[in-house]
Amino acid sequence: MAKPFYITTPIYYVNARPHLGHAYTTICADVINRYHTMITDETFFLTGTDEHGDKIMRAARKENTTPRLYVDKISGLFRELWPQLNVANDYFIRTTDKSHMAVVERVLQKIYDQGDIYFSEYEGKYCFGCERFYTDRELVNGKCPDHETEPETIKESNYFFKMSRYQQWLIDFIHEHPDMIRPERYKNEVLAFLREPLDDLCISRPKSRIKWGITLPFDNDYVTYVWFDALLNYISAIGYPDDPRFKKFWPVAQHIVAKDILKPHGIYWPIMLKAAGLPVYQHLNVHGYWNVDQSKMSKSLGNVVEPLQLKNIYGLDAFRFFLMREMNFGLDANFNEEALVTRINSDLANDLGNLYSRVVTMAHKYFKGVVPASDPAVEQELALDMEDRVARTIAIYQAEMETFAFHKALTAVWEFINRMNKIIDVTAPWELAKNKSCAPQLQAVIYNLLEGLRVISGLIYPIMPETAATMQKHLGLDASDSFYKMARVATWKLLSPGTQLPKSTTLFPRIDVKKEQPPSDLPSEMKVLQPELKPEITLEEFARIDLRVAKVVRAEAIPRAKKLLKLEVDVGEPEPRTVVAGIAGTYQPDELIGKQVILVANLKPAKLMGVLSQGMLLAASTDKALAALGADQEMPPGTPIR
Ligand code: ME8
Ligand code: MG
Repeated sequence: MAKPFYITTPIYYVNARPHLGHAYTTICADVINRYHTMITDETFFLTGTDEHGDKIMRAARKENTTPRLYVDKISGLFRELWPQLNVANDYFIRTTDKSHMAVVERVLQKIYDQGDIYFSEYEGKYCFGCERFYTDRELVNGKCPDHETEPETIKESNYFFKMSRYQQWLIDFIHEHPDMIRPERYKNEVLAFLREPLDDLCISRPKSRIKWGITLPFDNDYVTYVWFDALLNYISAIGYPDDPRFKKFWPVAQHIVAKDILKPHGIYWPIMLKAAGLPVYQHLNVHGYWNVDQSKMSKSLGNVVEPLQLKNIYGLDAFRFFLMREMNFGLDANFNEEALVTRINSDLANDLGNLYSRVVTMAHKYFKGVVPASDPAVEQELALDMEDRVARTIAIYQAEMETFAFHKALTAVWEFINRMNKIIDVTAPWELAKNKSCAPQLQAVIYNLLEGLRVISGLIYPIMPETAATMQKHLGLDASDSFYKMARVATWKLLSPGTQLPKSTTLFPRIDVKKEQPPSDLPSEMKVLQPELKPEITLEEFARIDLRVAKVVRAEAIPRAKKLLKLEVDVGEPEPRTVVAGIAGTYQPDELIGKQVILVANLKPAKLMGVLSQGMLLAASTDKALAALGADQEMPPGTPIR
């Protein structure tokens, strides 16, 4: 019987657009969820938005709109982003959903009835960004450590949840379940919090101050504190209390969060569950921050990176791979585009892409694209130990995936990739091909390499589902999901000799075009095929893209970004626009001045390497060459393209 698996992300505040930090957590959840589908678990993957509270109300006011319209709009941005990042969540919860609100009321009433909530006056320092009171001990130089702003002193009567009553229970519980909070450093951090006496939690806000929330079922003058509301999403989304999904998935619940919200998840939430008579979640998986220049990337600091922008420049799978490979789950990582480009070029274009194209090209060249048969005796004679290595790689991969150590799982796969590249160098198939009597050896080598690619395509599936599908298709496997099931991935010699392989394709073009050199052992006549056509779109969809003729008036290099140029372009508007273009490998800044280019003029502005780009320049590109597009004859700047 399939084992249930339940994974959640935080529900994100809708006070700003989604950024790379949100994308990272949600892609982690997608990766772990896909991995669990591979091992045939029955999975449920939840994400959503946190929509009540003062900071949402303030954000709506700033935009001159109502909280209702505002939350609908921003929640929609999150909801629509996820499919574009190939995130396959099963459900999207909003805390403004009626069914969620009913669950919050129900739990509050239950805890109130059993005497765990009392009414009292309180004065304290309140951070509106965090929506919570801070003790002096928690402040850094008198400021909120997360938002770097001074909290305001607030005095009011409120309802309190008797958390202190459960302090010892929680300490004991964590000791009895040592891997409940992981990696371990975060368990230790929670235990360190718990060494100090735990304050009771203020769980109400007077309506005189905030109306945008869930009314307390036992006092009409108050709304619920957002965290009390938000945390309950994890059970309301699966139909607490009676839905069979709740019964199936709650006992195996796992959360992913960043360390900013460790305290609510590591302390408030287990205590709330205990008080409500519910079992505690199975694991809280905590990751670090994506930083930019040593500061946490955050909307309040205004240094955010847009995930879609990166996807559009570098491709979705490359972006997902970078996030999973670059960050050591649990520790902080620094984001910069150069690191991204380096990873793409070395790990994807060079190691994986090159291996793939070498093997598939040779299969076409030496066997007309028909999978050869391999003789086990010849494999032994050649000391091809692929089967053993596959078994070892999969064992490490699975162990690391189970604990969210994505970077280590990928490292194991890449060791295998490098081993395969080594096998090509050592067995030198092009030499074997010169000698008719070496045909059995050539067949064995190519078959084993194709099989290795098949295993790799399975193991990268959770991280790079599109690339996995492309690889499998080009190995002659049908598009069925079953080839991603771990049992089949691990079945050695699954490819049938005699299968005709379709023409090969390029998996990952290199980014830095200037340095591009075709690998020396590839036949020069090898044609690099362009990526497949995208799904068709309607005329209306196309018409949403505003393309304009633009004229470059200034151009300069961007320090530290080898590939990027900062351009000022005249689009017939009073002021020229700044546009960042990835064309530095082909064009010198000077030669661009006065050039006519085509601009996507209504692309949402986004920051790239610290420069706000107000549009995107069109260029034709292969992995080897690039040419900016222009109009065939001089047209006035701003001329629309239809
Ligand atoms: O805290 N690096 O919402 P939020 C890594 N609504 N991850 C980051 C990040 C960064 N620089 N910035 C954000 C809330 N994140 C509450 C949660 S849950 C019941 C309620 C990710 O919009 C990371 O997952 O502030 C972090 O925990 C979350 O976004 C905070 O999102
Ligand atoms: Mg936050």
